Amino acid sequence: MAVPEGIDVTDASTFEDGIPHDLFAELRRTAPIWWNPQRRGVAGYDDEGFWVVSTHELVQDVSRRNDVFSSWENTVMVRNADDAPRAQIEAQRATMLNKDEPEHSALRRIVTRGFTPRAVNGLRAALAARAQDIARTAAGLGRGNFVEEAACELPLQAIADLLGVPQEDRRKLFDWSNQMTGRDDPDAHGDPLVAVGEIAGYAYALATERRERPADDIVTKLVRAQVEDGALTPEEFAYFVILLVVAGSETTRNSITHGLMAFLDNPEQWELYKRERPSTAVDEIIRWASPVLSFQRTATRDTELGGRTVRKGDRVVMLYASANYDETVFEEPRRFDIMRSPNPHLAFGGTGAHYCLGANLARLEVELMFDAIADQLPDITILGPPTRMRSAWLNSIKVLPVDYGTCP
Ligand code: HEM
Repeated sequence: MAVPEGIDVTDASTFEDGIPHDLFAELRRTAPIWWNPQRRGVAGYDDEGFWVVSTHELVQDVSRRNDVFSSWENTVMVRNADDAPRAQIEAQRATMLNKDEPEHSALRRIVTRGFTPRAVNGLRAALAARAQDIARTAAGLGRGNFVEEAACELPLQAIADLLGVPQEDRRKLFDWSNQMTGRDDPDAHGDPLVAVGEIAGYAYALATERRERPADDIVTKLVRAQVEDGALTPEEFAYFVILLVVAGSETTRNSITHGLMAFLDNPEQWELYKRERPSTAVDEIIRWASPVLSFQRTATRDTELGGRTVRKGDRVVMLYASANYDETVFEEPRRFDIMRSPNPHLAFGGTGAHYCLGANLARLEVELMFDAIADQLPDITILGPPTRMRSAWLNSIKVLPVDYGTCP
């Protein structure tokens, strides 16, 4: 197949049936750096197109050269017909996700302490108990929507645990979080920008409270003055919370949902998992899911990339969902293989300065959730096709009808 006319990798319709594997394979083979000519209906832009890189090597290259490929202009693909994206881009700029060096590292250094393997492992026992509870409750339901009843809960609880959000406030946080994503989706309810404001207000209040009345939690650490590293202002903290909720909830939820679908499509892998629980399974689930389809950068000067000249100001989209299926790196990439090792997938971004801060936490959540599913829901079955969220940015499922099976 040739790359079809009129394809736009930032248009949700390109992803209507999931990751377009044949199209991506063709891009990798014939045009690993490709000029995507259209950008229809994107508010705030008057450019005609952008570069797309689809191979593992080029996605790594762009991620690592962050002196040339800037995150400041906009990293997330937003397309909508109103003025909202501009405002959203402005809000994103307050977070580390959109900052360049040296501001990026300065901000990231303050929060890194909350995400070290040691800090994350400190949450293991509590999250394991929650995961088992979630699966046990689902087992009692008989049938239902796996996304809402099982996949979405642990990621949000983990972020709330990490931040020390009191139990009684969690529902609110969850609702706002759901309103913030899915702007392209016809079923989306609530205004995402209003939800952003609500979360920011809540987080601001939480930060101010902990500054006045310190507790033994990460919020207190982040907002109290630290001699060497500095501290987050309540405003910076508020944006950080928004970033955590957006970056950490849908992504992990979708790893869990796609992982379940992959297991049940490949019953021998499910049996193997239940028997051996190999530690390699988690990264294969995340590679397979590729929950974030792409991020973008903007060139700060003319440069060479994959044999083409990229001009200052040109945008470059990194297709993670293609890099993770690059046949020059992964043997039989379209085979779900939980023993795959090594597994240098780029689902958490390339190994540059912006590599996912929550990768350790996300891996732990996926591991604990599949442990719980294998323990409590070993006979779970899928009852019908999944309903996808309409999006060109997230590989997201909103409904997966399942029969939870009988309790063991
Ligand atoms: C950055 C994916 C889970 C917090 C990123 C990036 C990707 C990504 C691709 C790179 C962005 C870039 O290069 O511009 C994922 C996936 C996840 C996941 C696939 C789940 C499977 C989480 C979790 C958290 C989190 C659980 C936190 C609770 C962040 C933050 C950044 C980030 C704060 C920005 C890092 C920076 O700019 O330095 N994530 N993420 N993510 N992620 Fe994740």
